[in-house]
Amino acid sequence: MRFLSSLSALACVVSALAATPAIRQPAEGTLISPGAAFDFDYGSIADYGTSSYNYTVWLLTSLPTSFAPSTDFASGHFFGRFAEPNYPGNPNPPNTPPAQLIMPDFSKNPGGFGSGASATNATCYLAVFEEYANGEGSIGYRISFTANQIVYNATSH
Ligand SMILES: *[C@@H]1O[C@H](CO)[C@@H](O)[C@H](O)[C@H]1NC(C)=O
Ligand SMILES: *[C@@H]1O[C@H](CO)[C@@H](O)[C@H](O)[C@H]1NC(C)=O
Ligand SMILES: *[C@@H]1O[C@H](CO)[C@@H](O)[C@H](O)[C@H]1NC(C)=O
Repeated sequence: MRFLSSLSALACVVSALAATPAIRQPAEGTLISPGAAFDFDYGSIADYGTSSYNYTVWLLTSLPTSFAPSTDFASGHFFGRFAEPNYPGNPNPPNTPPAQLIMPDFSKNPGGFGSGASATNATCYLAVFEEYANGEGSIGYRISFTANQIVYNATSH
């Protein structure tokens, strides 16, 4: 296993470098209050040999239990579609991320047939899907996924 993983790590270095995509902020376990601004800092997969295009940021307040089509797939919030400047793939994106995102207050009625719901100490996931390419053919962009667990509306762990 160790031999195989060092082999594949080597193969990676030879073909294309890719940074490890990481959500630096909010860090794993961050407590975020409803309506609060929180720091957002994402480290892109872009590197020499790997181009990044756009990434989308979501909060999942419940995780998908399966990838079968479902009206109850998950619940949460879409924060936006952003990009990290990287040469030569996307050197001048107009949609760089803000330094902070605003956590919605999910207890507020979003309008229409909505109702909102209050929650205390809720485990949620700040998730990023990044569209990228590395010179090896793929049908559409390659997509990386990373997520940090955060806690919504708690004053302590
Ligand atoms: C990034 O997303 C924006 C908005 O959806 C889109 O207009 C733009 O073409 C995308 N850029 C790339 C490089 O895919
Ligand atoms: C946050 O949690 C408190 C209990 O600690 C609860 O009273 C309040 O309704 C919750 N707020 C929201 C927005 O869900
Ligand atoms: C918050 O929830 C976690 C598990 O999700 C639990 O371990 C912890 O005790 C809870 N904290 C409070 C203050 O209720």
